[in-house]
Amino acid sequence: MVVGGDSFVGGSVVEALRRRGHRALASTRRRETVDADRVFLDFETPEAFRAPPEVKYAYLIAAATNYDRCETDPMARVINVDLIPRTVASLLEQGLHVTFISTNSVFGGERPWPHEDDPHAPGIAYAQQKSDGEAVVLAAADRLGARDRLNITRLTKIMNATVSPVPGWVAAWKRGEAVEPFEDLVFAPISVNFVGEALATLGEKRLSGNLHLSGAENVSYVAFAHALASRLGVDKALIKPTTSVAKGIHIAFKPRYSGLGMTRTTQLSGVEPQPLDRLIDDLVVDLRS
Ligand SMILES: NC(=O)c1ccc[n+]([C@@H]2O[C@H](COP(=O)([O-])OP(=O)(O)OC[C@H]3O[C@@H](n4cnc5c(N)ncnc54)[C@H](OP(=O)(O)O)[C@@H]3O)[C@@H](O)[C@H]2O)c1
Repeated sequence: MVVGGDSFVGGSVVEALRRRGHRALASTRRRETVDADRVFLDFETPEAFRAPPEVKYAYLIAAATNYDRCETDPMARVINVDLIPRTVASLLEQGLHVTFISTNSVFGGERPWPHEDDPHAPGIAYAQQKSDGEAVVLAAADRLGARDRLNITRLTKIMNATVSPVPGWVAAWKRGEAVEPFEDLVFAPISVNFVGEALATLGEKRLSGNLHLSGAENVSYVAFAHALASRLGVDKALIKPTTSVAKGIHIAFKPRYSGLGMTRTTQLSGVEPQPLDRLIDDLVVDLRS
């Protein structure tokens, strides 16, 4: 069961699981779309959630993800630190194996390639809430003696052809106009297809503990623009590097290092960091379809 089946990440996990022949249920907040494979779940309703009896594994992917909302709306903290971990505890109590999805931002971005078990240093409210949510989930697993049925899987920035800045850049290049990527913004992007497949593999292996899924390189948006343009046959003169500082744009999460170390994850699962070239492959397939 994928909790948050309509999310960007959740949709890719449901697809990957079904491609592999698993039966995958998705949770939704939209009552009118409930059917045999779609289960109603809204963290903000008082009813305690129980998974259908046939469910053996749950991915807890849903979250309050908007950075601004996490800064300003107290309900975001309640969802991320209280309601979602409570649902994880309930799923563990029912005997399920659970993947709880978290983020590279819990490490703050000042240390290159943090190990799966490194200490956190969250900067922004979203990162603090995900970090606190991890702690609450772990405490529940300890209380229930269920650590061996829980993994916390942190992800770096996830892309497909609809994620900014790709659509804007491609549209500008089609018009023969230049784009202005930021040299001072660094990420270690991965494709949504990679994430779906990798999470399916981690689930099949019933792993526990902390796990990471990351791009293999920390790249600036300028380097990313060059990689994408070169693959699409776009003239590099249509890339005019700038910086967020020069443009006067405030960026909430601006890590020096974004990539996550995957030593433990690779040892246990065989899943390796996604090279930038493979991400570009997936983006090009996506753009062409
Ligand atoms: N996207 C990234 O680049 C990225 C990077 C690192 C980590 N992550 C993590 O990956 C996970 C998914 O991210 P995403 O970008 O795919 O998220 P998203 O597209 O913003 O989707 C969030 C999901 O959470 C659900 N949700 C929010 N509040 C809820 C509530 N009160 N009750 C039930 N469901 C609720 C939403 O339901 P509705 O569909 O009904 O709105 C939606 O399905 C998150 O845990 C995030 O922290 C994402």
